[in-house]
This record gives sequence, C-alpha cells and structure tokens, in this order.
Amino acid sequence: MNILMAASEAVPFAKTGGLADAVSALSLALANLGHQVRIALPRYYSIERDKLERMEGALGVPVGGGEEWSAVYTTILPGSPQKNPIPVYFIDHEQFFGRDGIYGSHGEPDFADNPRRFIFFSRSIFQLCRKLAWYPDILHSHDWPAAPAPVFLKYGERTGGFAHTASVLTVHNLGYQGIYSKDNFYYTNLGWDVFFNAGFDDWNMMNMLKAGLLSADKINTVSPTYARETQLSAHGFRLDGALRYRGDDYTGILNGIDTAIWNPRTDTYIPQTYSEKDMSGKAAGKAALQREFGLPLNPEVPLIGMVTRMTGQKGVGELFGPNYGSAWSICQDMELQWVILGTGEVWCEQEVLSLASRLSNFKARVGYSEEISHLIEAGSDFFLMPSRYEPCGLNQMYSLAYGTPPIVRNTGGLADTVENFDEEAGVGTGFVFNDLTPSAIYNTVGWAVWAYYNRSDQITAMRKRGMEQDFSWERSARKYLAMYQSCLGKG
Ligand code: ADP
Ligand code: GLC
Repeated sequence: MNILMAASEAVPFAKTGGLADAVSALSLALANLGHQVRIALPRYYSIERDKLERMEGALGVPVGGGEEWSAVYTTILPGSPQKNPIPVYFIDHEQFFGRDGIYGSHGEPDFADNPRRFIFFSRSIFQLCRKLAWYPDILHSHDWPAAPAPVFLKYGERTGGFAHTASVLTVHNLGYQGIYSKDNFYYTNLGWDVFFNAGFDDWNMMNMLKAGLLSADKINTVSPTYARETQLSAHGFRLDGALRYRGDDYTGILNGIDTAIWNPRTDTYIPQTYSEKDMSGKAAGKAALQREFGLPLNPEVPLIGMVTRMTGQKGVGELFGPNYGSAWSICQDMELQWVILGTGEVWCEQEVLSLASRLSNFKARVGYSEEISHLIEAGSDFFLMPSRYEPCGLNQMYSLAYGTPPIVRNTGGLADTVENFDEEAGVGTGFVFNDLTPSAIYNTVGWAVWAYYNRSDQITAMRKRGMEQDFSWERSARKYLAMYQSCLGKG
C-alpha cells in the first residue's frame, strides 16, 4: 500500500508531545511490514534547511482565493529500513512557518493565523503528490492541523491520481479541535455549502477537527477505552455526538512504543543498561537521577518521577493547584523523594519551582530534555501520571518497559495499559485509582510507598511483569493496516 502521513509533528523534526512519537514510529512499523510510506510536515524554521535536500520547482497551493507558493525540502526518516526508506517532505512557507514555535510562542500561545497555516498545509499535500506523481492509497491525517485534508479529498480533490484514495483521520487528543472564527473559512477555497455539509460549523465558529471527523472514510483514536469515553459527553468535548454518528467507522487502536529509543537494554542516555534479569543498572540510574536533581543519594527511599506537559489534562491542578494540591502533603507526610520534568502553563511551572524551594524531597526542572526524561524513566521507583483524560499516553508504557510501575488514573489508554496491583492474587503492573481528587492521588501514592517498604518482593515481581509487556508498534501497525484495508479504494 502507498500511505501518506500528514501531520504537524514527527520526531526527530518537530515535537511537543506523543503525537510526534506516534507519527514516526507508526510510519516505521508500516515500512518494516513492506508498505510504502511518505510523510508530509511543515518546515518550521527550527528544522534546518541545510540538512535537507531542496526539491526542484515549487508548489502552487490554491488557498485564500488565489495561490500560495511553497518550496519543498526532503530527507529520509532516520531509522528507516534500508530497502524501504521513508521520505519526509517539508512544506516551506516563510510567512507561515518561519518563526519560533509550532502552534504558538510564549508571547502568543496560539498563533492567530493557525487556521490559515494549517489549511494551507493540508491543501499543499495534494499539490505535493501531483508534483511527485505519487498518489497514496491511504491519506492518513493526524489531529486538527491535518484534519482539513480528508475534507479537501472528499470535496473536490478526489479526481485524477486521487480518484481511489481513501482517507483516515487519527485523533490523538480530542481536547484540541482547531476552533477558529469562520472568517477564516474563505481561505480553504471551498464553497459555503461545504462549510455546512462537511460539518465545519460549530456554534457560529469553524471547527477543523469536526469537519475532518465527519469527512474521513475511517477515523480512530489511540486507545479502545478513549474511543468509548469520547462517545460520552464527559470526555467528548462536545464531539461525542459526531463520534457516535460515525458508528463502526470509529475505533480505538492502542499506540506502541519505539523500542529502538525506549529500551533499558540499549538506552544510551542512562548510566548503565539493564534488563529484568539484572536490575543493577536501574539502581545506578536511581543514583544518577538523585545526583542530577541534587537529592540525597539514598538507594532505600522510594523515588517518584514525572515527565509531563503541565496542563489540566495531566492532573497538575489536583497535584499542584493553589488551594487543594496534594503534592505538598504527600512530600510532608511520606518518606519519599519526588522529581518532575516538564513545561506548560506558567502558574504550574512557577508552583513546582516554588515547591522545590520549600521542600527538601521535591525537585523540579522546568524545561524540555530527552536525556533527563530517559533518566527519570529508568531511575525512578514509580512514575506518576494522574491524568484527567489520556487518549493513550506513552510515558506509562515507557515506565512499564523500564521496570518503573506507573501510578495512574483509570482513564483512556492508562486503563488499557496498566493493570492494578492486587496483593492477594499477586498480579498487576501498577497502581490505579478512579477519582481525580487530591485525596485519591494522596492515598494511591501512599499505597505505592507503603508497598515499597512493606512488600518489596511483590514490587520486584511487579517491575518484571511490566518489563515483559509487549507494546511493540508492529502490533498496532497491523491494526492500522486492517483499518486501511477496510476502506481501500473507497474513492
Ligand atoms: P502527551 O502527548 O499528551 O503529552 P504522551 O505520554 O503521549 O503525552 O507523550 C508525551 C511525550 O512527550 C513523551 O515522549 C514524553 O517523554 C515527552 N515529553 C513531555 N514533556 C517532556 C519534557 N519536558 N522533556 C522531555 N520529554 C517530554
Ligand atoms: C496525545 C495524547 C496522548 C497520546 C499521544 C500520541 O498527545 O495526549 O495520550 O499518547 O497523543 O497518540
């Protein structure tokens, strides 16, 4: 099959979260299964031009009532199978992408021209394929920035080389829909009839994700539980009706993890590699982590780790919120150490730094670091992820792979990947709680810490069970292939 991935992020080029990991890893897994995959991305100016090859000529992209011109750069996705390399095409447009930030910057968290930036990108990929004279069987878009692509396909582009192209849209996070003033709609060059027929209309606004979800041939999200949850109003972000309407065309496919990057047996970011057969490297990782964060070098005390975007989705309000945060009492009452790495909402960045200045067993690093994130996965005893909602979540799977039992809320992909500890039955891979309240977090962390001190054999067995789980992308890729098959030739 020929598969074109259209996305706003892909590692190692541009990343704000798990979307970037998922796009590249899925592409690699599909290529390893013998399919021809290509990826289209915007060329943000953080992606240096001199490391890419410039394609001859330019694309004339029909948007805004006229045409916008774009250069195209290309390279091969690192890690591609040698016999079946994955080309990545970067759509270059200085006015739209020649600035710092993917969706926004510190001064402007959501760029005002985002609807036009991503409408332009979504439209450009059709011109890209024409230029390459390469047409996909499956056009696979990810999240709201590429959601207009299936709309363009359905309303106008499904001719010539695209006559038999089917479209798939994956939702990695329903909390981000690309809702903007409908004054931006003219930029699509589509008629107002399409605004209503495709489902862009949303209380007098333009909703890009909604139109994509109603136009793509098949849609999915990144875990079975989240697929069910999003069809109910509590987690549906007002699109639950649209998702229910899609019926069997909407499914949940669990992400995998890229074991070339996230593997304690080969990880080059950690001081000593390890496996379930010999965990001494994990102890070395713990010491290195304590050193890195300036904590007392104590192998006996349980160390809780977090790597997170600091937004409401991740439960940071219940942990660090001004009036009711649980982190302070956890650190005061329990014999433990705690490290957190993350960036996000300013109040939260400030609060964790402030906590760190007042508590000797709590350390925070505000920033983004691949290296430290690996060290936290390897060196912590438990990984805390109390998400309000979680489409899939990669960090809890990384921590399972690193023998670091996750403490998670029973939601979305967390529910699908972490099995609760049951002392009697001797099963479980982590600690799971239901209600997102400061007291539930407090009690569950307390339970894990208690088990650490009093049931250490069981914790050791739990670490091993986690490390033996199979979260390979190959398994997920086969499910995507089945979905592709089910709509192949739909056009
Ligand atoms: P989400 O995409 O919702 O943020 P995921 O768990 O799916 O959640 O993916 C998060 C990804 O981003 C992981 O690969 C994680 O390691 C990474 N990440 C998030 N924040 C940071 C940070 N501050 N430094 C390094 N990596 C980070
Ligand atoms: C989103 C979700 C996260 C998921 C990731 C990759 O960022 O918040 O749960 O793992 O996408 O699909």
